[in-house]
Amino acid sequence: MVRPIVIVHAGAWNIPDELIEPHLQAVKKAVRMSYNILKNGGSALDAVETAIKILEEDPHVDAGVGSFLNAEGEVELDAIIMDGKTLKAGAVAAVKNIRNPIVLARKVMELTNHILLVGEGANKFARSIGIKEIDPQELVVEREWKRWRELKGRKIDIKVFFEDKGNTVGAVAMDVEGNLAAGTSTGGIPMKMPGRVGDSPLIGCGAYADNEFGAVSTTGHGESIMKVVLAKSIIDLISRGYTAQEAVVMGIRYMEKKVNGRGGAIAIDRLGNIGIYHNTPKMAFAVMSDKLGLIADIQCREDLLSELL
Ligand code: GLY
Repeated sequence: MVRPIVIVHAGAWNIPDELIEPHLQAVKKAVRMSYNILKNGGSALDAVETAIKILEEDPHVDAGVGSFLNAEGEVELDAIIMDGKTLKAGAVAAVKNIRNPIVLARKVMELTNHILLVGEGANKFARSIGIKEIDPQELVVEREWKRWRELKGRKIDIKVFFEDKGNTVGAVAMDVEGNLAAGTSTGGIPMKMPGRVGDSPLIGCGAYADNEFGAVSTTGHGESIMKVVLAKSIIDLISRGYTAQEAVVMGIRYMEKKVNGRGGAIAIDRLGNIGIYHNTPKMAFAVMSDKLGLIADIQCREDLLSELL
């Protein structure tokens, strides 16, 4: 029996002081519920889905309820989940009235021969399997309306802006059988063009899992992450013998060097070693295992890392 472990993140950005505590509460709740599943013999997939569902329900982060609004003032959600045992993945993109896109993504993985369904096709599939469609306004919070009104008509450098305001969520887990899973969910970036899909629902960009090597979930500026296929690049570094921590550091630094991209990543390798890194000012994360207990923070500090390694 393998010792289970789970890591969650709630976005890499410049989390303002007043949002630090809500972010820490969110990641702690998600990691506790998720670890509980693993402790009781549940699967890595169940643990990842549960953690992300909890974060999608949290109005402080950019996933599900509380997501950023696009240029037309609408929420469009992307999510992915991946099974390291089979390399099966399921994802949805640009869905507007699904409260928990991670749940729908898992159904895409389990009930279809496809990996990614978008827009109306994803909704049709949701209807066909009884996943409720909600009033899209349920996903909108006052904070985001205010942001939308402030930004409307302004020209913004999204790369610079994203460093300041971005909080995609994700999770990676290893269960008692040694199976790995990864998942990511997001409302994308503020004022995105309608129909814009970021890195999060793309296999190898927003998440990747392979029992032979590891599981990774990423967060940050989607267009930068896509250019370097960040999650799979980190897995490839692990496959070449780097530890999970070395791999996330190298992956993020490579993205910064090549495309000046900002973001973060969490990883577990097949031996249960963990990797957590970001090149943004902060990243909310929590990790839980027998050995480490529960650790939650908003910065991946060197002293914390040396404890974890
Ligand atoms: N990483 C979230 C996005 O850019 O869509």
